[in-house]
Amino acid sequence: MADDKKSATLSLNGKEHELPIFSPTLGPDVIDIRKLYGQAGVFTYDPGFTSTASCDSTITFIDGEKGELLHRGYPIDQLASKSHYLEVCYLLLYGELPSAAQLEDFESRVTNHTMLHEQMHFLFRGFRRDAPPMAIMVGVVGALSAFYHDSTDITDPWQREVASVRMIAKMPTIAAMAYKYTIGQPFMYPRNDLDYASNFLRMCFAVPSDDYEVNPILSRAMDRIFTLHADHEQNASTSTVRLASSSGANPFACIAAGIACLWGPAHGGANQACLEMLREIGTVERIPEYIARAKDKNDPFRLMGFGHRVYKNFDPRATVMKQSADEVLDLMGIDDNPTLQVAKELEKQALADPYFAEKKLFPNVDFYSGIILEAMGFPTSMFTAIFAVSRTVGWISQWKEMIADPQLKIGRPRQLYVGAPKRDYVDIENR
Ligand code: SDX
Repeated sequence: MADDKKSATLSLNGKEHELPIFSPTLGPDVIDIRKLYGQAGVFTYDPGFTSTASCDSTITFIDGEKGELLHRGYPIDQLASKSHYLEVCYLLLYGELPSAAQLEDFESRVTNHTMLHEQMHFLFRGFRRDAPPMAIMVGVVGALSAFYHDSTDITDPWQREVASVRMIAKMPTIAAMAYKYTIGQPFMYPRNDLDYASNFLRMCFAVPSDDYEVNPILSRAMDRIFTLHADHEQNASTSTVRLASSSGANPFACIAAGIACLWGPAHGGANQACLEMLREIGTVERIPEYIARAKDKNDPFRLMGFGHRVYKNFDPRATVMKQSADEVLDLMGIDDNPTLQVAKELEKQALADPYFAEKKLFPNVDFYSGIILEAMGFPTSMFTAIFAVSRTVGWISQWKEMIADPQLKIGRPRQLYVGAPKRDYVDIENR
């Protein structure tokens, strides 16, 4: 990674400091500032980390200008059309596409870890029935470390492997249980004869008195949603998992931290916020009013499901997701769903508006995933929980990569202090 030939020179306070430059496989060069404070006595300043590489990684690469997303070098559009979620999980975890035998073994290991410790069912009972599923997910996933002690020692590669498979396998079960709990229906157990996406749909929509026949169009769309949300470089929730893991915390606690971060409407909560926005708009006639608000600098309102920190032309996942949305809407119909009619018209008007074109704001993955999940019959409160199910493999893969790095250091950013200068305590009678 180090490129001895290239360096940057920083001239500061009459001194020159040479900073090494590393050249990546793909993407921009990076300036190594690890010794900057020691050499020059200054910090860099980058709130939001818009120009900061927090690590080196071999897992995912995004080219924001080209609208390209690669997982271990494979373009997302090819994976979405030719692969399936568990195969993409294998690729993210182990770095290569599996042979048929490797895939069969991996899918068997995941399938045989989908059940939850029976004692954990009582954890759900501590929540109110109107608890947001994301609150339950954060709580129950964090509590996994209280039940699966034999896969919390991060120094043991075998325990790291078991924790990885357990997380991928149990997240759909936990999410489905969170959904069932909030609608007052009994939990449905996973079935080993169903694929990952079909198992999740059945655990959500079957009841003991009436099983659920999974429609292949819906299970394919569900699998595609899982695949398209699997990993995305050092996004906010993945960076949260890395920072939490850098202290040596157990993997379940770190994934719970990632779920908490994903919950925010600027991140994974955008799909839920997008559908709530579409419902608030209500009718096609009110779309211009909301587009005007999104453009008004004095109005904090933003079009949820639009824009992206990295993609500045289009989100390649959204392109694929839009195809799935059209398939599901054809199957489920939108004529009687005003929310979905508003979505289609909003997309059309926003894409035709110069403001969004100039600011490179376009529908992102969350805009279309929300539409599909709405059409499938999920409540908006489940949208981000489903995103968390999918992103678990990305969090775990990035966690594994970081924990295995011999140069692992605890993450500890510095700051630009702009508070009060040093001063003496004043007794209360003198204030
Ligand atoms: C995800 O990082 C990831 O990879 C995330 C993710 C993943 O897979 O992990 O891709 C998943 O989080 C997708 C993004 C989902 N979020 C939303 O859809 C929420 C709505 N989008 C915005 O909040 C916003 O676009 C962000 C947060 C996504 C990106 O924000 P940035 O990069 O910090 O951009 P910005 O806030 O600096 O905005 C740039 C300009 C601003 O105008 P000016 O100050 O330059 O005049 O664009 C405007 C913003 O006001 N703008 C919007 C807008 N998003 C940005 N205006 C209206 N509607 C919007 N949605």
